[in-house]
Amino acid sequence: MMRDVLHLKELQSVESPVPVSRLGSVLTQSGRWRDQAVLVKTLVSDDPSDVARFRHEGAVAESLAHPRIVPLLAVTPRQLIFPFITGGSLREYLDGTQLDADQATAVTLGVLSGAAYLHRCGVVHQDLKPENVMLAGGEPTAAAVRIVDFGMSHARNLPLDIHSGTRMGTPHFMAPEQFQGVRGDPRSDLYSAGVLLFDALAGHPPYEDALGWLAGIRDNRAALPGPAALHPVMLAALARDPDERPGSAGAMIEAIQVAREALGLGRVTGLDG
Ligand SMILES: Nc1ncnc2c1ncn2[C@@H]1O[C@H](COP(=O)(O)OP(=O)(O)O)[C@@H](O)[C@H]1O
Ligand SMILES: [Mg+2]
Repeated sequence: MMRDVLHLKELQSVESPVPVSRLGSVLTQSGRWRDQAVLVKTLVSDDPSDVARFRHEGAVAESLAHPRIVPLLAVTPRQLIFPFITGGSLREYLDGTQLDADQATAVTLGVLSGAAYLHRCGVVHQDLKPENVMLAGGEPTAAAVRIVDFGMSHARNLPLDIHSGTRMGTPHFMAPEQFQGVRGDPRSDLYSAGVLLFDALAGHPPYEDALGWLAGIRDNRAALPGPAALHPVMLAALARDPDERPGSAGAMIEAIQVAREALGLGRVTGLDG
């Protein structure tokens, strides 16, 4: 399914802009445009590799249409315009609190449902983390999840592989093989989803020294949080070897659903709606 994304030649001016972040070559602002609240990412560099990366992010975002993924509204040569998701990010929600098993698994299922769609489209997000998971309406449910930020993504059908380590965020959510330079393996997203589930339950990620773990010189993971029924799927997702992880996002969804049933929580329904 393709959506109608507006292609505009001119830079669009945004009313009442408020800076959200500035990451290298991209300025992110919220504001109003054509009578709606929007989030605008603006390219503020002329460096050809920055331009190529920005175009790639836009091309990936434009190709996607799924309820768990933020829809692109419009593009200009230097802007990506998204509807503003009210409710904040999972990171903001987690600031100072933890989720219970019901909430943490629900949000993880929402993320995995979006990831399953991405992987069917030949896209690997490669930067799944609480900062890039918005919660529409502000409650930690599966249906609230809106995945954002395709700035690190890999797309099978796009020509460029421009991700030569020029941008690296927090290492906590990055899979070991990504750290080694492997790109485009959907199982890297399953690793990140496992860290997300861990972090949501524990209030901190699995490895204090994430770089030591990624480099293969440290293995001392914090105790697995949450009920024991969730530990096998969490452990599998966090495996250093991608072959030991769940075989697909769908398989990980099913394992979490089975654990929810064992915990008396019931399956989360309507994951795609
Ligand atoms: N559509 C949106 N609505 C509301 N907030 C958003 C939206 N998209 C992103 N954000 C917020 O802005 C932050 C930066 O956007 P993101 O696309 O992740 O850019 P960056 O490349 O700087 O990480 C996100 O972490 C999130 O908190
Ligand atoms: Mg981001």
